[in-house]
Amino acid sequence: MLKVSDLSSRFFIVAHRGASAYEPENTMRSFRHAVKLGCKAVEFDVRLSKDGYPIIIHDETVDRTTNGHGRVNELSLEELKALDAGLGEKIPLLDEVLDNLSGRAVFFIELKVDDAVKPVLEAVEDRDLWSSVLFISFKPFHLREILNYNSDAYVGLIYFKSGDGIVTARRIGAIAVLPYYRFASKRAVAFAKKLGLMIIPWTVDDISVAKKLKSYGVNGVATNKPDLLLSLEDNYS
Ligand code: G3P
Ligand code: CA
Repeated sequence: MLKVSDLSSRFFIVAHRGASAYEPENTMRSFRHAVKLGCKAVEFDVRLSKDGYPIIIHDETVDRTTNGHGRVNELSLEELKALDAGLGEKIPLLDEVLDNLSGRAVFFIELKVDDAVKPVLEAVEDRDLWSSVLFISFKPFHLREILNYNSDAYVGLIYFKSGDGIVTARRIGAIAVLPYYRFASKRAVAFAKKLGLMIIPWTVDDISVAKKLKSYGVNGVATNKPDLLLSLEDNYS
């Protein structure tokens, strides 16, 4: 089984919402495509249905990515599952993703809502997938809650602004920072690494940007177009 610790010393590609430039984002089809391309890490976003099921969808509403309308947290699982998330795909349950892809990739599980933290932890605990999950969030308190539940969990802080993301991540006990790629300067990368943090910028769909970030020493990049960047990966064999 591929583990988060297997990734830390190499440059790797994270499929952002799966191979989302080619398949409907955050669907099983998008995740399978990413794994088939050879991605060792797949990122996705978790929210809760009205009736409390962890499901994989990025936005607060279903409007952009499905043929439905409304807020995710005001729709039941049955209502959400009736929607077309693109090419006939259904919005996946977290359980479906974990059960179908465990062992085939490391999961970067992004907590989009506070109430999702506990059920996500329980789903990972039930399957004992701790070593192959990096829990990620923009909210430091999500990461603290995760580490309170299991101090051995791997957590990473996402940030979208310049500022103290690296220091905050270190204070929390995160193993990684995930900056918007424009904030992954040479200096920021060096600082993160000096503090012992992995640094994995997002979202990079341009090979020249990915090459530059790799030359700075980032551990990996998240991309919607994994096929463009996989040739930059270090050899895993
Ligand atoms: O991996 C971090 C990245 O996914 C955060 O941004 O909006 O695509 O969830 P977003
Ligand atoms: Ca995300």
